Amino acid sequence: MPLDSRPPTDPASTLDARFRSAIHAVSQRDADPQIRPSTNPAFGDYQANAAMSLAKETKGNPRELAAALANAVDLAGIAEPPVIAGPGFLNIRLESSFIVAMLAAMDNASLGVGVTNETHAVVVDLCGVNVAKQMHVGHLRATIIGDTIARVFERVGRTVWRENHLGDWGLPIAMTLAALRRANVDLDQLTLNQLNSAYRTAQLEGRSDEAGLAAAYATGAGPHRIAELLAQQMSAGAAIVDAKSTLLRLQGGDAEVVAAWEKIITCTMREVYASTATLNAKVTAEHNRGESFFRDRLAPVVDGFIKAGLAKEDQGAIIVPFADRERPLLIRKSDGGFLYATTDLAALRFRTFDLNGSRVIYVVDARQRDHFKDVFDAAALIGWDRTKDGEKAEITHLGFGTVLGKDKRPLKTRSGENFTLKDLLDEAIERGISEVTRRAQDPNAPTHSLSATELARVGRAVGIAAIKYADLSNDLTKDYVFDLDRMVAFEGDTGPYLQYAHARIANMLAKAKDSASDIASANHAVAEPAERALALHLLRYPQMILDVTRTLETNRIGAYLRTLAELFNAFYQSCPVLKSEDDTLRRARLRLCGLTRDVLHDGLSLYGIEAPERM
Ligand code: ARG
Repeated sequence: MPLDSRPPTDPASTLDARFRSAIHAVSQRDADPQIRPSTNPAFGDYQANAAMSLAKETKGNPRELAAALANAVDLAGIAEPPVIAGPGFLNIRLESSFIVAMLAAMDNASLGVGVTNETHAVVVDLCGVNVAKQMHVGHLRATIIGDTIARVFERVGRTVWRENHLGDWGLPIAMTLAALRRANVDLDQLTLNQLNSAYRTAQLEGRSDEAGLAAAYATGAGPHRIAELLAQQMSAGAAIVDAKSTLLRLQGGDAEVVAAWEKIITCTMREVYASTATLNAKVTAEHNRGESFFRDRLAPVVDGFIKAGLAKEDQGAIIVPFADRERPLLIRKSDGGFLYATTDLAALRFRTFDLNGSRVIYVVDARQRDHFKDVFDAAALIGWDRTKDGEKAEITHLGFGTVLGKDKRPLKTRSGENFTLKDLLDEAIERGISEVTRRAQDPNAPTHSLSATELARVGRAVGIAAIKYADLSNDLTKDYVFDLDRMVAFEGDTGPYLQYAHARIANMLAKAKDSASDIASANHAVAEPAERALALHLLRYPQMILDVTRTLETNRIGAYLRTLAELFNAFYQSCPVLKSEDDTLRRARLRLCGLTRDVLHDGLSLYGIEAPERM
């Protein structure tokens, strides 16, 4: 199934086809029937809005055209005859038997989500941590958004490459290596804290305070202050010399330096993998393809641009100029060194050509927007935006906003440090466990009989769901405030609310005395308005997923699931399920409950959120 076609179990897909033929019969045109879910269920389930635009094109009367379409369209077994409204809308009310048939068709492991026949890969650049640095909350976003995007494409059957473009090469790493050696640190016992502080020392040593020195002279600061700054500048010089020679040894494959380099990568990644596992995000060692992977491809990138006549020398450096803007892209420094952008050009070529990716998605902080614009434009100039077989790739920077504290400033700990991801996850888990344990005190709670270990397991899932949902259900491009109290609540627009909705259905289904086969052979219940509203929303699940593949808006999943949970609650309040005496009706409702549970479970899995059976 191509990704741009409508899922067959979606009623809109059948309506679309039927109205298309009607439009053709009436006007000999091939036009979009504009089938939309109805804004008001009192008027129908769907509406077809094509008559207005069609009338404009054919200079006809929209209401007359609508009447002609209503007359021509064959909706036997699908819907009642359409009703004309307003300037020429057609309101459509589906036959219950048709809804039941579509529900039955989606009620299997696929849940109506088709598998695409597109064989090009999707490449998702995610996580992107830097070696020797703690993961901070920004990497939380790059990891879980990237993982969700990857899961959505996997769900529709695409081949997906998760690419973790680690910062594991270049001068900063060499500076850290050199600082560790000067401090005589035993690399076999290395902890991430030690590594982190070596990184920070290296950064400080490497950065001479030239501005400070100039200011000290200008303001006539005392000789003591000036001497201090001069000394710092001199040692910065020495540290840089040391780092540069370390970098040369690393680049030259010096066994000792390479071994040390591997140890600091192992040390960094140990914690990264622990965090990605806690987050239930599929980012493991097999997804590593860091900057170092591209080290031998950098010189050829620059040569390629020079040979194509797209790059030129500028004061000893090599730049790629653009026709539409002043800012060129620097791809080689005057000292011969390569840049972040050079590596990204090599990586992009690898992704489109070697991995045959027709869709490349960079899940990276929005503040890198200019960088990616330049890289993508340069790649397009040289033709590296094409797959191995020459198809033009769609390349996107999915830039996300910043995580803020309650003070609306980038999230910091009380002592003003950057929040490490680990601290944040620990706190969320702690909150999840205490919330779940507290609720289990109630003798009527389904979790009352669970052991402390089991409660802790559920609590972990709740804590992680809280932060993932809060992040993924937002407009990704916006900043958001990190507020654990709100995120972990069982009520409101939260992850735990959805998990709880799922667990309540699971709990109810577990109490049903009807056999699974009796339920499976019943027709889904759609007679009551609340049943019908729930059913129609369930049928939209596959289209929602396709919409996410197109827009990359992960918040659509959360919004869909939230509406699903609300419609379910409304149904559950007005339609007795287990208490219904009539076997046929009870089983019909149980079947609708089962499908709702499955869709909630599947939808949460796209966020990588676990759905415990009891909460
Ligand atoms: N390591 C980079 C950083 O922390 C992120 C890498 C993003 N991916 C990329 N292909 N540039 O800023």
